[in-house]
Amino acid sequence: MISGKGKVCGIMAYPVEHSLSPMMHNFYGEQMGLDFAYVPFKVQEDQVEAALKGAYALNVAGMNVTVPHKQRVIPYLRELDPTARAIGAVNTLVRTDGGYKGYNTDAPGLWRAMREAGMEVRGQNCLLIGAGGAAKAAAFVLGSQGAASVLVLNRNRDRAGELAEDMNRWFGREFMTAMALEDYEKVPEGPWLAVQTTSVGMNPHADQALVEDRAFYRKIRCGMEIIYTPEKTKFMSLVEEAGGRAAGGLDMLIYQGIEAFELWNPGQRVPDKIIDQVRQKMRKELEK
Ligand code: ATR
Repeated sequence: MISGKGKVCGIMAYPVEHSLSPMMHNFYGEQMGLDFAYVPFKVQEDQVEAALKGAYALNVAGMNVTVPHKQRVIPYLRELDPTARAIGAVNTLVRTDGGYKGYNTDAPGLWRAMREAGMEVRGQNCLLIGAGGAAKAAAFVLGSQGAASVLVLNRNRDRAGELAEDMNRWFGREFMTAMALEDYEKVPEGPWLAVQTTSVGMNPHADQALVEDRAFYRKIRCGMEIIYTPEKTKFMSLVEEAGGRAAGGLDMLIYQGIEAFELWNPGQRVPDKIIDQVRQKMRKELEK
């Protein structure tokens, strides 16, 4: 039960009804005995500034920000963490004196999921599939963790080129290059660490993968998927059938939440046992 001294956080999205974040965060708060509540805030696109002002006035301690507000919140923040600045998107706000500070926990969440799946980035040649919002967070992880090279494969080649240019500039090294998806057969032999960041293959289109050609998957040693519905995508199955290892997006979703929870509750670390319980609860919810 939350007391008068309790800390209130929430998620700002539109729509917000399907978010699993309230379930995750309230579970951590309860299990860890914290005076903490996390609530959904449905915020229309033209109400972002008003929502932030209102939340600040109401002493809301922190927020998650998701579709479609991850970029739109930036002008109204007091401060921006360097990771969020590099990615150009914010998914977590932390209350500070005079306003909110914006963070991006998608990148550290993805990195933790990759590490726990035993996927090393340092010195590796990486294939980044997609060049949208999710790809930016993944590109940042690959750059900051010392990938030897990153080849960005995207339907719209110009978008891949822009992402590569941005990241090469940010990290001060020419490690990222772009290729049009239609040229996928020209991807060198590898072996590659591939990160799949497009929405292709997400329910209800679980029978699809961006590339269906099995020869492509023989070049991939490890495949990290960002989609979490279904838990095993066709991309993952194709990687595994070709003899590689694959991991799904559920852990990234969980760890981006944990990184946010730990920003709002300094000094707390969510124990592994509670993370396992949340993983089970999420699986049940996602099966519904
Ligand atoms: P998000 O923020 O979730 O990454 P996004 O910014 O819309 O969403 O990016 C979606 C990504 O999936 C892009 O890389 C997009 O390719 P384009 O840049 O060429 O549009 C990719 N994508 C989505 N649907 C696709 C499809 N049917 N075929 C190929 N690529 C697709």
